[in-house]
Amino acid sequence: MNLGVRETQHFEVIEAAKLPNPQNAIVSVIGLGYVGVPLMVGFAEYARTIGFDIDNDKISKLQSGVDPSEQCSKDELSKTNMEYTSNLAELTEADVLVVCVPTPVMQGNKPDYRPLLAASKSVAQNMKRGCVVVYESTVDPGTTENKCIPVLEKESGMREGVDFYVGYSPERVSPGEHARRVTDIKKIVSGSSPEVADFLEVLYGRVVKAGLFKATSIKVAEAAKILENTQRDVNIALINEMMQLFDSMGIKVSDVVAAAGSKWNFHTYFPGLVGGHCISVDPFFLLNAGRSHGLAMEMVASARAVNERTAHFISDKLHEMLAPEAHNLQGKRVLVLGRAFKDNCPDTRNSKSFAVIDSLWTRGADVYSYDPIADNSHFEGGRGAIVIDELMEHGQFDAVVVTAKHDCFAEEIDLFKLAAIAPRGAPIVDLRKLFDGDAASMHFNYWTP
Ligand SMILES: NC(=O)c1ccc[n+]([C@@H]2O[C@H](COP(=O)([O-])OP(=O)(O)OC[C@H]3O[C@@H](n4cnc5c(N)ncnc54)[C@H](O)[C@@H]3O)[C@@H](O)[C@H]2O)c1
Repeated sequence: MNLGVRETQHFEVIEAAKLPNPQNAIVSVIGLGYVGVPLMVGFAEYARTIGFDIDNDKISKLQSGVDPSEQCSKDELSKTNMEYTSNLAELTEADVLVVCVPTPVMQGNKPDYRPLLAASKSVAQNMKRGCVVVYESTVDPGTTENKCIPVLEKESGMREGVDFYVGYSPERVSPGEHARRVTDIKKIVSGSSPEVADFLEVLYGRVVKAGLFKATSIKVAEAAKILENTQRDVNIALINEMMQLFDSMGIKVSDVVAAAGSKWNFHTYFPGLVGGHCISVDPFFLLNAGRSHGLAMEMVASARAVNERTAHFISDKLHEMLAPEAHNLQGKRVLVLGRAFKDNCPDTRNSKSFAVIDSLWTRGADVYSYDPIADNSHFEGGRGAIVIDELMEHGQFDAVVVTAKHDCFAEEIDLFKLAAIAPRGAPIVDLRKLFDGDAASMHFNYWTP
Protein backbone atom coordinates (compact mmCIF):
# COMPACT_ATOMS: atom_id res chain seq x y z
CA MET A 1 0.00 0.00 0.00
CA ASN A 2 1.37 3.45 -0.83
CA LEU A 3 0.44 5.50 2.22
CA GLY A 4 0.92 8.90 0.55
CA VAL A 5 -1.58 8.29 -2.26
CA ARG A 6 -5.33 7.83 -1.91
CA GLU A 7 -6.32 4.77 -3.84
CA THR A 8 -9.27 5.22 -6.11
CA GLN A 9 -11.25 2.57 -7.90
CA HIS A 10 -12.62 3.47 -11.31
CA PHE A 11 -16.07 2.08 -12.13
CA GLU A 12 -17.18 2.69 -15.65
CA VAL A 13 -20.76 3.94 -15.39
CA ILE A 14 -22.72 3.14 -18.52
CA GLU A 15 -25.98 4.95 -18.67
CA ALA A 16 -28.82 2.68 -19.74
CA ALA A 17 -30.22 3.55 -23.14
CA LYS A 18 -33.58 5.33 -23.14
CA LEU A 19 -36.57 3.34 -24.33
CA PRO A 20 -37.94 4.57 -27.67
CA ASN A 21 -40.98 6.80 -27.82
CA PRO A 22 -43.88 4.39 -28.41
CA GLN A 23 -45.85 7.12 -30.20
CA ASN A 24 -43.44 7.38 -33.11
CA ALA A 25 -41.31 4.23 -32.94
CA ILE A 26 -40.32 2.61 -36.24
CA VAL A 27 -41.44 -1.01 -36.07
CA SER A 28 -39.83 -3.90 -37.90
CA VAL A 29 -41.57 -7.26 -38.20
CA ILE A 30 -39.25 -10.24 -38.74
CA GLY A 31 -40.98 -13.23 -40.37
CA LEU A 32 -43.84 -12.33 -42.70
CA GLY A 33 -46.18 -15.30 -42.48
CA TYR A 34 -49.64 -15.88 -41.06
CA VAL A 35 -48.73 -13.91 -37.94
CA GLY A 36 -46.23 -11.33 -39.21
CA VAL A 37 -48.15 -9.82 -42.11
CA PRO A 38 -51.42 -8.98 -40.27
CA LEU A 39 -49.37 -7.61 -37.39
CA MET A 40 -47.36 -5.40 -39.72
CA VAL A 41 -50.59 -4.17 -41.29
CA GLY A 42 -51.87 -3.33 -37.80
CA PHE A 43 -48.73 -1.36 -36.89
CA ALA A 44 -48.75 0.42 -40.26
CA GLU A 45 -51.93 2.28 -39.21
CA TYR A 46 -49.73 4.25 -36.80
CA ALA A 47 -46.07 3.71 -37.55
CA ARG A 48 -43.48 3.37 -40.23
CA THR A 49 -43.02 -0.39 -40.65
CA ILE A 50 -40.25 -2.50 -42.13
CA GLY A 51 -41.11 -6.12 -42.87
CA PHE A 52 -38.20 -8.52 -43.14
CA ASP A 53 -38.21 -12.13 -44.34
CA ILE A 54 -35.50 -14.50 -45.58
CA ASP A 55 -37.86 -15.72 -48.32
CA ASN A 56 -37.17 -13.50 -51.35
CA ASP A 57 -40.14 -14.85 -53.24
CA LYS A 58 -42.45 -13.86 -50.39
CA ILE A 59 -40.93 -10.38 -50.29
CA SER A 60 -41.54 -9.92 -54.05
CA LYS A 61 -45.16 -11.02 -53.66
CA LEU A 62 -45.74 -8.68 -50.72
CA GLN A 63 -44.13 -5.82 -52.65
CA SER A 64 -46.62 -6.44 -55.44
CA GLY A 65 -49.52 -6.41 -52.97
CA VAL A 66 -50.05 -10.17 -52.65
CA ASP A 67 -50.09 -11.85 -49.25
CA PRO A 68 -49.08 -15.51 -49.78
CA SER A 69 -50.90 -16.42 -46.54
CA GLU A 70 -54.07 -14.74 -47.86
CA GLN A 71 -54.67 -12.87 -44.60
CA CYS A 72 -54.45 -9.30 -45.91
CA SER A 73 -55.72 -7.42 -48.96
CA LYS A 74 -53.72 -5.52 -51.55
CA ASP A 75 -54.91 -2.20 -50.11
CA GLU A 76 -53.77 -3.18 -46.64
CA LEU A 77 -50.35 -4.21 -47.92
CA SER A 78 -49.73 -1.13 -50.03
CA LYS A 79 -49.52 1.78 -47.60
CA THR A 80 -46.66 4.17 -48.23
CA ASN A 81 -45.22 3.65 -44.75
CA MET A 82 -44.73 -0.11 -45.34
CA GLU A 83 -41.51 -1.56 -46.72
CA TYR A 84 -40.78 -5.22 -47.43
CA THR A 85 -37.19 -6.31 -47.54
CA SER A 86 -34.80 -9.22 -47.34
CA ASN A 87 -31.93 -6.83 -46.67
CA LEU A 88 -30.96 -7.19 -43.03
CA ALA A 89 -29.18 -3.83 -42.96
CA GLU A 90 -32.59 -2.10 -43.03
CA LEU A 91 -33.30 -3.40 -39.53
CA THR A 92 -30.82 -0.87 -38.13
CA GLU A 93 -33.50 1.81 -38.56
CA ALA A 94 -36.02 0.04 -36.33
CA ASP A 95 -36.79 1.11 -32.76
CA VAL A 96 -38.83 -2.03 -32.16
CA LEU A 97 -38.13 -5.43 -33.73
CA VAL A 98 -40.93 -7.97 -33.52
CA VAL A 99 -39.92 -11.58 -34.20
CA CYS A 100 -42.66 -13.79 -35.71
CA VAL A 101 -40.73 -16.74 -37.13
CA PRO A 102 -41.86 -20.39 -37.00
CA THR A 103 -41.33 -22.62 -33.97
CA PRO A 104 -41.95 -26.09 -35.42
CA VAL A 105 -40.92 -29.52 -34.17
CA MET A 106 -38.27 -31.73 -35.71
CA GLN A 107 -38.18 -35.47 -36.27
CA GLY A 108 -39.29 -37.15 -33.04
CA ASN A 109 -41.40 -34.09 -32.15
CA LYS A 110 -38.45 -32.28 -30.56
CA PRO A 111 -38.76 -28.46 -30.51
CA ASP A 112 -36.89 -26.84 -33.37
CA TYR A 113 -35.54 -23.51 -32.13
CA ARG A 114 -33.35 -22.99 -35.19
CA PRO A 115 -35.51 -20.35 -36.98
CA LEU A 116 -35.95 -18.47 -33.69
CA LEU A 117 -32.24 -18.45 -32.92
CA ALA A 118 -31.28 -17.63 -36.52
CA ALA A 119 -33.70 -14.66 -36.48
CA SER A 120 -32.29 -13.57 -33.09
CA LYS A 121 -28.78 -13.64 -34.55
CA SER A 122 -29.84 -11.58 -37.58
CA VAL A 123 -31.59 -9.07 -35.35
CA ALA A 124 -28.62 -8.85 -32.97
CA GLN A 125 -26.19 -8.14 -35.76
CA ASN A 126 -28.33 -5.31 -37.09
CA MET A 127 -30.13 -3.69 -34.16
CA LYS A 128 -29.34 -0.28 -32.79
CA ARG A 129 -28.69 0.70 -29.18
CA GLY A 130 -31.89 1.51 -27.30
CA CYS A 131 -34.14 -0.75 -29.37
CA VAL A 132 -36.73 -3.20 -28.02
CA VAL A 133 -36.84 -6.77 -29.35
CA VAL A 134 -40.24 -8.43 -28.92
CA TYR A 135 -40.85 -12.13 -29.51
CA GLU A 136 -44.27 -13.29 -30.68
CA SER A 137 -43.40 -16.87 -31.67
CA THR A 138 -44.93 -19.56 -29.45
CA VAL A 139 -42.32 -21.12 -27.14
CA ASP A 140 -42.05 -22.97 -23.84
CA PRO A 141 -41.45 -20.84 -20.74
CA GLY A 142 -37.87 -19.67 -20.36
CA THR A 143 -37.00 -19.70 -24.06
CA THR A 144 -36.83 -15.92 -24.46
CA GLU A 145 -34.60 -15.42 -21.43
CA ASN A 146 -32.50 -18.58 -21.62
CA LYS A 147 -32.10 -19.02 -25.35
CA CYS A 148 -32.87 -15.78 -27.21
CA ILE A 149 -31.36 -13.08 -24.97
CA PRO A 150 -27.96 -14.84 -24.82
CA VAL A 151 -27.86 -14.88 -28.64
CA LEU A 152 -28.89 -11.22 -28.81
CA GLU A 153 -26.16 -10.25 -26.32
CA LYS A 154 -23.44 -12.43 -27.85
CA GLU A 155 -24.06 -11.36 -31.44
CA SER A 156 -24.57 -7.66 -30.69
CA GLY A 157 -21.93 -7.25 -28.02
CA MET A 158 -24.60 -5.27 -26.11
CA ARG A 159 -26.31 -5.95 -22.78
CA GLU A 160 -30.02 -6.49 -22.26
CA GLY A 161 -31.44 -3.97 -19.82
CA VAL A 162 -28.66 -1.52 -20.55
CA ASP A 163 -28.18 -1.26 -24.33
CA PHE A 164 -31.39 -2.89 -25.55
CA TYR A 165 -34.59 -4.34 -24.09
CA VAL A 166 -36.67 -7.47 -24.60
CA GLY A 167 -40.36 -8.28 -24.41
CA TYR A 168 -42.66 -11.16 -25.22
CA SER A 169 -46.16 -10.84 -26.59
CA PRO A 170 -47.70 -14.11 -27.79
CA GLU A 171 -49.79 -14.04 -30.92
CA ARG A 172 -53.36 -15.33 -30.59
CA VAL A 173 -54.71 -14.97 -34.12
CA SER A 174 -56.58 -17.93 -35.54
CA PRO A 175 -56.28 -18.03 -39.34
CA GLY A 176 -59.59 -18.68 -41.03
CA GLU A 177 -61.54 -16.84 -38.34
CA HIS A 178 -61.85 -13.63 -40.31
CA ALA A 179 -64.05 -11.90 -37.75
CA ARG A 180 -61.19 -12.00 -35.20
CA ARG A 181 -58.20 -10.12 -36.52
CA VAL A 182 -55.12 -9.11 -34.56
CA THR A 183 -56.70 -5.79 -33.58
CA ASP A 184 -59.80 -7.56 -32.18
CA ILE A 185 -58.01 -10.02 -29.90
CA LYS A 186 -56.93 -9.08 -26.39
CA LYS A 187 -53.14 -9.26 -26.31
CA ILE A 188 -50.74 -10.29 -23.58
CA VAL A 189 -47.63 -8.12 -23.20
CA SER A 190 -44.63 -8.69 -20.97
CA GLY A 191 -41.18 -7.22 -20.58
CA SER A 192 -37.80 -7.88 -19.05
CA SER A 193 -38.63 -5.03 -16.63
CA PRO A 194 -41.83 -3.21 -15.63
CA GLU A 195 -40.73 -0.24 -17.78
CA VAL A 196 -40.44 -2.45 -20.88
CA ALA A 197 -43.87 -3.97 -20.18
CA ASP A 198 -45.30 -0.43 -19.82
CA PHE A 199 -43.66 0.59 -23.09
CA LEU A 200 -45.19 -2.42 -24.89
CA GLU A 201 -48.58 -1.70 -23.35
CA VAL A 202 -48.57 1.73 -24.97
CA LEU A 203 -47.09 0.51 -28.27
CA TYR A 204 -49.52 -2.39 -28.73
CA GLY A 205 -52.34 -0.40 -27.23
CA ARG A 206 -52.33 1.77 -30.33
CA VAL A 207 -52.91 -1.29 -32.52
CA VAL A 208 -55.04 -3.68 -30.46
CA LYS A 209 -58.52 -2.34 -29.81
CA ALA A 210 -59.61 -5.31 -27.69
CA GLY A 211 -57.32 -4.36 -24.82
CA LEU A 212 -54.13 -5.68 -23.30
CA PHE A 213 -53.16 -7.92 -20.42
CA LYS A 214 -49.84 -7.15 -18.79
CA ALA A 215 -48.31 -10.45 -17.61
CA THR A 216 -46.14 -10.41 -14.52
CA SER A 217 -43.12 -11.74 -16.39
CA ILE A 218 -41.94 -12.95 -19.78
CA LYS A 219 -42.09 -16.57 -18.55
CA VAL A 220 -45.73 -16.13 -17.49
CA ALA A 221 -46.63 -14.75 -20.93
CA GLU A 222 -44.83 -17.64 -22.66
CA ALA A 223 -46.56 -20.16 -20.41
CA ALA A 224 -49.99 -18.56 -20.91
CA LYS A 225 -49.85 -18.97 -24.68
CA ILE A 226 -48.70 -22.56 -24.60
CA LEU A 227 -51.32 -23.38 -21.96
CA GLU A 228 -54.07 -21.90 -24.17
CA ASN A 229 -53.12 -24.12 -27.08
CA THR A 230 -52.52 -27.21 -24.97
CA GLN A 231 -55.88 -26.78 -23.25
CA ARG A 232 -57.54 -26.77 -26.66
CA ASP A 233 -55.65 -29.89 -27.71
CA VAL A 234 -56.70 -31.70 -24.51
CA ASN A 235 -60.34 -30.62 -24.78
CA ILE A 236 -60.64 -31.71 -28.41
CA ALA A 237 -58.88 -34.99 -27.57
CA LEU A 238 -61.48 -35.72 -24.90
CA ILE A 239 -64.32 -35.23 -27.37
CA ASN A 240 -62.49 -37.22 -30.07
CA GLU A 241 -62.08 -40.08 -27.62
CA MET A 242 -65.74 -39.82 -26.57
CA MET A 243 -66.71 -39.86 -30.27
CA GLN A 244 -64.99 -43.23 -30.66
CA LEU A 245 -66.54 -44.78 -27.56
CA PHE A 246 -70.05 -43.42 -28.16
CA ASP A 247 -69.92 -44.37 -31.83
CA SER A 248 -69.25 -47.99 -30.93
CA MET A 249 -72.32 -47.75 -28.63
CA GLY A 250 -74.49 -46.29 -31.38
CA ILE A 251 -74.61 -42.84 -29.77
CA LYS A 252 -73.80 -39.57 -31.54
CA VAL A 253 -71.29 -37.51 -29.60
CA SER A 254 -72.84 -34.29 -30.96
CA ASP A 255 -76.19 -35.28 -29.39
CA VAL A 256 -74.36 -35.97 -26.13
CA VAL A 257 -72.53 -32.62 -26.26
CA ALA A 258 -75.84 -30.82 -26.95
CA ALA A 259 -77.42 -32.50 -23.92
CA ALA A 260 -74.42 -32.00 -21.63
CA GLY A 261 -74.14 -28.39 -22.83
CA SER A 262 -77.44 -27.64 -21.14
CA LYS A 263 -75.47 -27.51 -17.87
CA TRP A 264 -74.08 -24.05 -17.09
CA ASN A 265 -70.49 -25.15 -16.53
CA PHE A 266 -70.08 -27.61 -19.39
CA HIS A 267 -67.62 -26.49 -22.09
CA THR A 268 -68.69 -27.35 -25.60
CA TYR A 269 -66.17 -28.88 -28.00
CA PHE A 270 -66.66 -30.85 -31.21
CA PRO A 271 -64.60 -33.66 -32.69
CA GLY A 272 -62.10 -32.83 -35.38
CA LEU A 273 -58.69 -33.45 -36.87
CA VAL A 274 -56.10 -31.44 -34.95
CA GLY A 275 -53.41 -30.38 -37.40
CA GLY A 276 -51.59 -27.21 -38.37
CA HIS A 277 -48.49 -25.95 -36.69
CA CYS A 278 -49.93 -24.53 -33.45
CA ILE A 279 -52.34 -26.75 -31.52
CA SER A 280 -50.78 -29.96 -32.80
CA VAL A 281 -47.21 -28.73 -32.27
CA ASP A 282 -47.04 -26.48 -29.21
CA PRO A 283 -47.86 -29.25 -26.68
CA PHE A 284 -44.64 -30.97 -27.78
CA PHE A 285 -42.71 -27.93 -26.49
CA LEU A 286 -44.39 -28.47 -23.12
CA LEU A 287 -43.69 -32.20 -23.19
CA ASN A 288 -40.05 -31.42 -23.85
CA ALA A 289 -39.99 -28.90 -21.00
CA GLY A 290 -41.68 -31.48 -18.76
CA ARG A 291 -38.99 -34.04 -19.57
CA SER A 292 -36.23 -31.65 -18.57
CA HIS A 293 -38.03 -31.13 -15.24
CA GLY A 294 -38.58 -34.85 -14.68
CA LEU A 295 -42.31 -34.70 -15.46
CA ALA A 296 -44.02 -37.06 -17.89
CA MET A 297 -46.99 -34.72 -18.51
CA GLU A 298 -49.26 -37.72 -19.06
CA MET A 299 -52.40 -35.76 -19.85
CA VAL A 300 -50.71 -33.65 -22.52
CA ALA A 301 -49.03 -36.72 -24.02
CA SER A 302 -52.28 -38.73 -24.10
CA ALA A 303 -54.21 -35.88 -25.72
CA ARG A 304 -51.59 -35.68 -28.46
CA ALA A 305 -51.78 -39.42 -29.03
CA VAL A 306 -55.60 -39.42 -29.16
CA ASN A 307 -55.69 -36.54 -31.63
CA GLU A 308 -53.02 -38.16 -33.81
CA ARG A 309 -55.11 -41.35 -33.95
CA THR A 310 -58.33 -39.62 -34.98
CA ALA A 311 -57.44 -39.69 -38.70
CA HIS A 312 -57.26 -43.48 -38.48
CA PHE A 313 -60.65 -43.64 -36.80
CA ILE A 314 -62.09 -41.75 -39.79
CA SER A 315 -60.44 -44.14 -42.21
CA ASP A 316 -61.69 -47.12 -40.15
CA LYS A 317 -65.19 -45.64 -40.17
CA LEU A 318 -65.23 -45.39 -43.93
CA HIS A 319 -63.87 -48.90 -44.25
CA GLU A 320 -66.63 -50.20 -41.96
CA MET A 321 -69.29 -48.41 -44.05
CA LEU A 322 -67.90 -49.02 -47.53
CA ALA A 323 -66.35 -52.45 -47.48
CA PRO A 324 -67.06 -54.13 -44.13
CA GLU A 325 -66.65 -57.59 -45.54
CA ALA A 326 -63.33 -56.90 -47.27
CA HIS A 327 -59.93 -56.43 -45.71
CA ASN A 328 -59.21 -53.43 -47.83
CA LEU A 329 -60.72 -50.64 -49.91
CA GLN A 330 -59.07 -51.90 -53.11
CA GLY A 331 -60.16 -49.90 -56.14
CA LYS A 332 -62.75 -47.81 -54.27
CA ARG A 333 -62.89 -44.22 -55.47
CA VAL A 334 -62.99 -41.98 -52.42
CA LEU A 335 -63.38 -38.20 -52.56
CA VAL A 336 -61.84 -36.29 -49.63
CA LEU A 337 -63.20 -32.75 -49.27
CA GLY A 338 -60.55 -30.63 -47.50
CA ARG A 339 -56.78 -30.57 -47.65
CA ALA A 340 -56.29 -27.50 -45.41
CA PHE A 341 -55.70 -28.26 -41.74
CA LYS A 342 -58.82 -26.35 -40.65
CA ASP A 343 -62.00 -24.72 -41.92
CA ASN A 344 -61.66 -21.62 -44.12
CA CYS A 345 -57.87 -21.51 -43.95
CA PRO A 346 -55.52 -22.23 -46.87
CA ASP A 347 -52.73 -23.58 -44.63
CA THR A 348 -52.00 -27.26 -45.28
CA ARG A 349 -48.97 -27.59 -43.01
CA ASN A 350 -49.28 -30.67 -40.85
CA SER A 351 -52.85 -31.16 -42.07
CA LYS A 352 -54.37 -34.36 -40.76
CA SER A 353 -56.39 -34.61 -43.95
CA PHE A 354 -53.15 -36.04 -45.37
CA ALA A 355 -53.17 -38.70 -42.65
CA VAL A 356 -56.74 -39.65 -43.66
CA ILE A 357 -55.71 -39.78 -47.32
CA ASP A 358 -52.63 -41.83 -46.47
CA SER A 359 -54.62 -44.31 -44.47
CA LEU A 360 -57.28 -44.75 -47.19
CA TRP A 361 -54.61 -45.08 -49.86
CA THR A 362 -52.73 -47.66 -47.82
CA ARG A 363 -55.95 -49.68 -47.76
CA GLY A 364 -56.06 -49.64 -51.54
CA ALA A 365 -58.48 -46.79 -52.26
CA ASP A 366 -58.05 -44.37 -55.16
CA VAL A 367 -58.23 -41.11 -53.24
CA TYR A 368 -59.26 -37.84 -54.87
CA SER A 369 -58.58 -34.65 -52.95
CA TYR A 370 -60.58 -31.47 -53.55
CA ASP A 371 -59.92 -28.16 -51.79
CA PRO A 372 -60.10 -24.97 -53.86
CA ILE A 373 -58.61 -22.79 -51.11
CA ALA A 374 -55.70 -25.01 -50.06
CA ASP A 375 -52.18 -23.67 -50.43
CA ASN A 376 -50.39 -26.54 -52.13
CA SER A 377 -46.87 -25.30 -51.50
CA HIS A 378 -46.69 -27.55 -48.43
CA PHE A 379 -48.19 -30.73 -49.81
CA GLU A 380 -47.04 -33.18 -47.17
CA GLY A 381 -47.79 -36.87 -47.22
CA GLY A 382 -51.19 -37.71 -48.58
CA ARG A 383 -49.48 -40.36 -50.71
CA GLY A 384 -51.37 -41.25 -53.80
CA ALA A 385 -53.94 -38.47 -53.56
CA ILE A 386 -55.15 -37.32 -56.95
CA VAL A 387 -55.59 -33.57 -56.53
CA ILE A 388 -58.58 -32.36 -58.54
CA ASP A 389 -59.60 -28.78 -59.35
CA GLU A 390 -63.07 -29.60 -60.68
CA LEU A 391 -65.59 -31.76 -58.91
CA MET A 392 -67.79 -32.69 -61.84
CA GLU A 393 -65.15 -33.98 -64.25
CA HIS A 394 -64.10 -37.18 -62.52
CA GLY A 395 -67.16 -39.38 -62.73
CA GLN A 396 -68.79 -40.97 -59.71
CA PHE A 397 -67.14 -41.60 -56.36
CA ASP A 398 -67.89 -44.62 -54.19
CA ALA A 399 -67.63 -42.59 -50.99
CA VAL A 400 -66.99 -39.08 -49.68
CA VAL A 401 -65.10 -37.92 -46.58
CA VAL A 402 -65.38 -34.33 -45.31
CA THR A 403 -62.40 -33.12 -43.28
CA ALA A 404 -62.92 -29.33 -43.51
CA LYS A 405 -66.04 -27.18 -43.46
CA HIS A 406 -65.00 -24.37 -45.76
CA ASP A 407 -67.61 -21.72 -46.60
CA CYS A 408 -66.82 -22.35 -50.27
CA PHE A 409 -67.85 -26.01 -49.86
CA ALA A 410 -71.15 -24.96 -48.32
CA GLU A 411 -71.72 -22.58 -51.26
CA GLU A 412 -70.63 -24.98 -54.00
CA ILE A 413 -71.69 -28.45 -52.87
CA ASP A 414 -75.32 -28.93 -51.97
CA LEU A 415 -76.94 -32.36 -51.70
CA PHE A 416 -78.04 -32.22 -55.37
CA LYS A 417 -74.45 -31.79 -56.44
CA LEU A 418 -73.38 -34.53 -54.06
CA ALA A 419 -76.01 -36.81 -55.59
CA ALA A 420 -74.53 -36.10 -59.01
CA ILE A 421 -71.09 -37.37 -58.00
CA ALA A 422 -71.95 -40.17 -55.56
CA PRO A 423 -74.62 -42.87 -56.02
CA ARG A 424 -77.63 -43.42 -53.78
CA GLY A 425 -76.53 -45.21 -50.62
CA ALA A 426 -72.88 -44.16 -50.92
CA PRO A 427 -71.11 -43.75 -47.57
CA ILE A 428 -70.57 -40.10 -46.61
CA VAL A 429 -68.29 -39.59 -43.59
CA ASP A 430 -68.94 -35.98 -42.64
CA LEU A 431 -66.58 -35.23 -39.77
CA ARG A 432 -67.31 -31.50 -39.90
CA LYS A 433 -71.10 -31.55 -40.38
CA LEU A 434 -70.93 -29.86 -43.76
CA PHE A 435 -74.25 -31.34 -44.83
CA ASP A 436 -77.67 -31.35 -43.26
CA GLY A 437 -77.71 -34.74 -41.57
CA ASP A 438 -81.44 -35.51 -41.87
CA ALA A 439 -81.59 -34.61 -45.56
CA ALA A 440 -78.31 -36.38 -46.39
CA SER A 441 -79.43 -39.56 -44.58
CA MET A 442 -82.44 -39.86 -46.90
CA HIS A 443 -80.22 -40.40 -49.92
CA PHE A 444 -76.86 -41.60 -48.60
CA ASN A 445 -75.38 -43.86 -45.99
CA TYR A 446 -74.50 -40.75 -43.99
CA TRP A 447 -72.35 -40.63 -40.85
CA THR A 448 -71.45 -37.65 -38.76
CA PRO A 449 -70.09 -37.70 -35.20
N1 LIG B 1 -50.31 -19.29 -37.74
C1 LIG B 1 -50.98 -19.16 -36.62
O1 LIG B 1 -52.18 -19.33 -36.58
C2 LIG B 1 -50.32 -18.74 -35.33
C3 LIG B 1 -51.11 -18.24 -34.30
C4 LIG B 1 -50.51 -17.86 -33.14
C5 LIG B 1 -49.13 -18.03 -32.99
N2 LIG B 1 -48.39 -18.54 -34.01
C6 LIG B 1 -46.95 -18.66 -33.81
O2 LIG B 1 -46.34 -17.58 -34.49
C7 LIG B 1 -45.09 -17.99 -35.07
C8 LIG B 1 -45.09 -17.75 -36.56
O3 LIG B 1 -46.10 -18.54 -37.15
P1 LIG B 1 -46.62 -18.30 -38.64
O4 LIG B 1 -47.82 -19.16 -38.79
O5 LIG B 1 -46.74 -16.86 -38.95
O6 LIG B 1 -45.41 -18.92 -39.46
P2 LIG B 1 -45.20 -18.79 -41.04
O7 LIG B 1 -44.41 -20.00 -41.42
O8 LIG B 1 -46.49 -18.52 -41.72
O9 LIG B 1 -44.29 -17.50 -41.21
C9 LIG B 1 -43.02 -17.43 -40.70
C10 LIG B 1 -42.16 -16.60 -41.63
O10 LIG B 1 -40.88 -16.49 -41.02
C11 LIG B 1 -39.91 -16.53 -42.04
N3 LIG B 1 -38.62 -16.89 -41.45
C12 LIG B 1 -38.15 -18.10 -41.09
N4 LIG B 1 -36.92 -17.99 -40.56
C13 LIG B 1 -36.61 -16.66 -40.58
C14 LIG B 1 -35.49 -15.92 -40.17
N5 LIG B 1 -34.43 -16.51 -39.63
N6 LIG B 1 -35.50 -14.58 -40.36
C15 LIG B 1 -36.57 -13.97 -40.91
N7 LIG B 1 -37.66 -14.63 -41.33
C16 LIG B 1 -37.69 -15.96 -41.15
C17 LIG B 1 -40.45 -17.55 -43.02
O11 LIG B 1 -39.86 -17.37 -44.30
C18 LIG B 1 -41.93 -17.24 -42.99
O12 LIG B 1 -42.29 -16.31 -43.99
C19 LIG B 1 -44.93 -19.45 -34.66
O13 LIG B 1 -44.22 -19.53 -33.46
C20 LIG B 1 -46.35 -19.91 -34.42
O14 LIG B 1 -46.41 -21.00 -33.54
C21 LIG B 1 -48.95 -18.87 -35.18
